[in-house]
Amino acid sequence: MTVEKVTVTEGLTRLEIPKRTERKGPKSSRTPGFFNPDMVVNRDMSVMMSRYLHYSSREGPVAYLDLFSGCGAMGLRVAMESGAAVDVTFNDRSSSALGFVKSNIALNRLDAGTGQPPKVICREAQSLLGDERFEHIDIDPYGTPAPFIRPAMSSLAFTRTVLGERGAVVSLTATDTAPLCGTYPKVALRRYRAVVRKTPFMKEVGLRVLIGYAVLEAAQLDLAAIPILSFYHGHFFRVFTGVRPGAEPANDLIGSMGYIQYDPERYTWSILPYGRTDLPADRDGILLGPMWMGDMVLPALRKNLSRMSHPQFSQTTLRVLGKLTDEIETRFHYEVNELASIAGVSTPRRDVLLSRIKDAGHRASVTHYSPTSIKTSASTEELVELMG
Ligand SMILES: C[S@@+](CC[C@H](N)C(=O)[O-])C[C@H]1O[C@@H](n2cnc3c(N)ncnc32)[C@H](O)[C@@H]1O
Repeated sequence: MTVEKVTVTEGLTRLEIPKRTERKGPKSSRTPGFFNPDMVVNRDMSVMMSRYLHYSSREGPVAYLDLFSGCGAMGLRVAMESGAAVDVTFNDRSSSALGFVKSNIALNRLDAGTGQPPKVICREAQSLLGDERFEHIDIDPYGTPAPFIRPAMSSLAFTRTVLGERGAVVSLTATDTAPLCGTYPKVALRRYRAVVRKTPFMKEVGLRVLIGYAVLEAAQLDLAAIPILSFYHGHFFRVFTGVRPGAEPANDLIGSMGYIQYDPERYTWSILPYGRTDLPADRDGILLGPMWMGDMVLPALRKNLSRMSHPQFSQTTLRVLGKLTDEIETRFHYEVNELASIAGVSTPRRDVLLSRIKDAGHRASVTHYSPTSIKTSASTEELVELMG
């Protein structure tokens, strides 16, 4: 098939892409050299995190695998813009996608430096992971990353320092947000072995289920996949994990896994630890999980997020970073409309409600999950009082 091409710039990187993919909006996964401009936030954040994780390394270039490269946008941007020394291997099972990768390597002169020229491989992801070792693996398939997480964890080389200790990195993207958020509970049960239902805070549940799945998959291999930064945007979830070898750190992480017993009538929930054998009967609500109950952003990282953006980042990325910086770490969030309907009052402005909550001595913030939701240390009962 002849594919018409066009050249665009994303960040500081020039990309030759199939003409049909240049516009925003839904894409066909059959387009060779798949490129989605809506994923600029994902790639901007990956540039930022590669700088954070690999910039100051004295251990030589990081062996980075762009496992599902499409036209190579992710790996190219990380190599061109993170400022870290990165040896990228691009892989895709589509040879036409790799035609774009090769053009883009030449267009950005990534093969002109003194280091290793980038490798370009055409293999099924799982078969490549069975044969080679990498220090940072990026997983960005169509839909679910679930089948690739354990093979990627098994394919890590723990040859460098990550966040001060011996480790490696797995970053993953999931675009199957509908199952993860509870629209297709049977699919979520099958793919992630987790019970999910639609709730007012379903995006956070979806993200926590995805992280929890990665933590448990790694734990089976005596690895601790520590969540460093996780967020939702548009139609995808993104998770960066620092992976450490050892059963002990893996056990520690499992301590941050749990379920929630959610009562939709009262908009309340209680958190139950993973591994408990006396789970309460499904009477006062629904039992959801297992899922990750720990931090979504490492505290040391969150403090610095607003200073970590690069000038070339898109306005949307800057907005997401701003919200993530301001967001407090609480388990789950409240939709203000839902609270208003429980309290029987009209919906207050979110900033007004946030001030009232803080004035009453609680912590409270916006969330990046929805423009109409809040995070707070106040309980539902306290919030209902403060609504009217
Ligand atoms: C969502 S696109 C990747 C987008 C890319 N990371 C970017 O930022 O533009 C997914 C790519 O994975 C490739 N792919 C899907 N399943 C694969 C598999 N099992 N093994 C190798 N490549 C696969 C597809 O050909 C497609 O190019």
